[in-house]
Amino acid sequence: MASDPFFSAVLGRRTVYALSDSSPIPDSRIQEIVVKAIKHSPSTFNVQSARAVILLKDEHRKFWDYALEFIKAALPEEVVKQLGARIAGFRAAYGSVLFFEAKADLDALAQEHAIVAPFITEWSDTSSGINQFAVWAALSAEGLGANLQHYNFLPPLVEKVKAEWNIPQDWLLKSQLVFGTPTGGPREKTFKPVEDRVKVYGQ
Ligand SMILES: Cc1cc2nc3c(=O)[nH]c(=O)nc-3n(C[C@H](O)[C@H](O)[C@H](O)COP(=O)(O)O)c2cc1C
Repeated sequence: MASDPFFSAVLGRRTVYALSDSSPIPDSRIQEIVVKAIKHSPSTFNVQSARAVILLKDEHRKFWDYALEFIKAALPEEVVKQLGARIAGFRAAYGSVLFFEAKADLDALAQEHAIVAPFITEWSDTSSGINQFAVWAALSAEGLGANLQHYNFLPPLVEKVKAEWNIPQDWLLKSQLVFGTPTGGPREKTFKPVEDRVKVYGQ
């Protein structure tokens, strides 16, 4: 089928936590992939509110050091122990893509189209997810492993990120895609019966 190459990338994208601090492709190719995904992923009314920041090597490690620092400041010791081990795993990878949505663009859209204003946050999340998926699948197709994280639940970390990497105040941090050379495979994945999930009428 014409869609086979596309689905090969879709099926090849998995959550991989065992990652090393190397990359099978040059940094320029990683950048090219993120640029392509951000440029071509769809958005509501073509608002193009998606933003991305690529952190590599020391800059990536700096992000996860800050995450640990703010986890320690905010959460009880037993949670810090659990999350600390996970964060050490993310830090050991090669890079992270931080995904944002530009609130200024979304606010302008809400002003322009008042009737859809109540839906814009939901559509922004949908659009951000499409961007994240495109980068995740493309990096996987290039031989990188990746996993998706959401440490944006820590407001001081979000503020630190904006200060450290000179990010506009209105950019809303949505997620972090951690990537590196896989040193292990994905976990076994089970599937609910698709017949219960997809219905067809009028065939
Ligand atoms: C919207 C969304 C949010 C997710 N958040 C996290 C997360 O915060 N941490 C994490 O380790 N995995 C996260 N995941 C990964 C899922 O757990 C994973 O995609 C799911 O278990 C299926 O496994 P697969 O990615 O290997 O297909 C998220 C996935 C999606 C789509």
